Amino acid sequence: MPITEPAVQCPLSAELQAILRCVSCGSNLDSDQAGGYVCPGCKRAYPNVQGIARFVDAQHYAASFGFQWHRYQKTQLDHDEVRESERHFLAKTALRPEDLKGKLVLDVGCGMGRFAEVATRWGARVVGVDLSAAAEVAAKNLADRDFVAFQADVFALPFALESFDIIYSIGVLHHTPDCEAAVKTLDKYLKPGGLLVVWLYSGYNKWYRFSDFWRRYTHKMKPRTLHGILKVAVPFFYNLEQGLKRIPLIGRPVAGLVHHVFPVNRQKNPEARMLDTFDWYSPTYQSKHTYEQVFKWFAAMGMEDMRIGEISIAVRGRKPSKGMI
Ligand SMILES: C[S@@+](CC[C@H](N)C(=O)[O-])C[C@H]1O[C@@H](n2cnc3c(N)ncnc32)[C@H](O)[C@@H]1O
Repeated sequence: MPITEPAVQCPLSAELQAILRCVSCGSNLDSDQAGGYVCPGCKRAYPNVQGIARFVDAQHYAASFGFQWHRYQKTQLDHDEVRESERHFLAKTALRPEDLKGKLVLDVGCGMGRFAEVATRWGARVVGVDLSAAAEVAAKNLADRDFVAFQADVFALPFALESFDIIYSIGVLHHTPDCEAAVKTLDKYLKPGGLLVVWLYSGYNKWYRFSDFWRRYTHKMKPRTLHGILKVAVPFFYNLEQGLKRIPLIGRPVAGLVHHVFPVNRQKNPEARMLDTFDWYSPTYQSKHTYEQVFKWFAAMGMEDMRIGEISIAVRGRKPSKGMI
């Protein structure tokens, strides 16, 4: 379900234009009058395509995410009756509305923008970056918010150092080729005293083992092919489990075994179930982590005031203020 209409983003505020940098040489960027940017230093151009300034040449390994977020554009977006993304945001960042109000925030790997929706609703000005074409979906979903999206890579962000009050990245950095390096690249974009929050897959769960086996094959498939297979497999295994559970005595253990060997997401909403199962089996990279690891990375960056969130692995730390370093 590709987006055909380009995203319409407001012109950048002077504040945002001032922090934009060339990813090749670090120079300030000039507008190219077509919604893109050009570097006056090395002449590299960052064109506006479909309403989004592109700081990467291609989606690289993130094509499955571009496919996923174009197909499931609003499935996880909060609305009047549903506040599921807000609940996740709270549990995975431990940030409250008062932490975000009036702050300049970077959402790394914003996907279709569900968490930026929460952050802007709480009064933050949010810049979202995503390696994939998901940036287009986020820009459209949040067209009426204080939000701008760029297609950019966490390893080459187009921003000046010490630009943001808060940087969060939820469910993203474990999908890069080097999660530790991705986490450690972020603190330099934080203002002194700013907050860094990451949420990563947990390395403590053992049920991952069988899905790791299936992922050896699924992550190599074309997104469309895998999606077609899962459209059959997800309802099949979900309904099989529900049916088995009704059998007295042996039903529940057998259903548990089926889930262990063929893990599919168990949410009630069939669309959310499909989306989360695809999100699990499709990415090229997927790593899992422990609190011990992530605390070590944060300590190496000199972070202080470290906290954990409610859902593993959620770690938050504060960059020391200038006088404290
Ligand atoms: C599982 S999705 C999570 C999206 C969003 N944070 C959410 O929770 O809804 C992971 C996202 O990370 C993005 N991503 C992966 N590698 C990235 C990188 N190197 N730089 C920026 N974004 C990246 C993907 O394109 C994808 O949209």
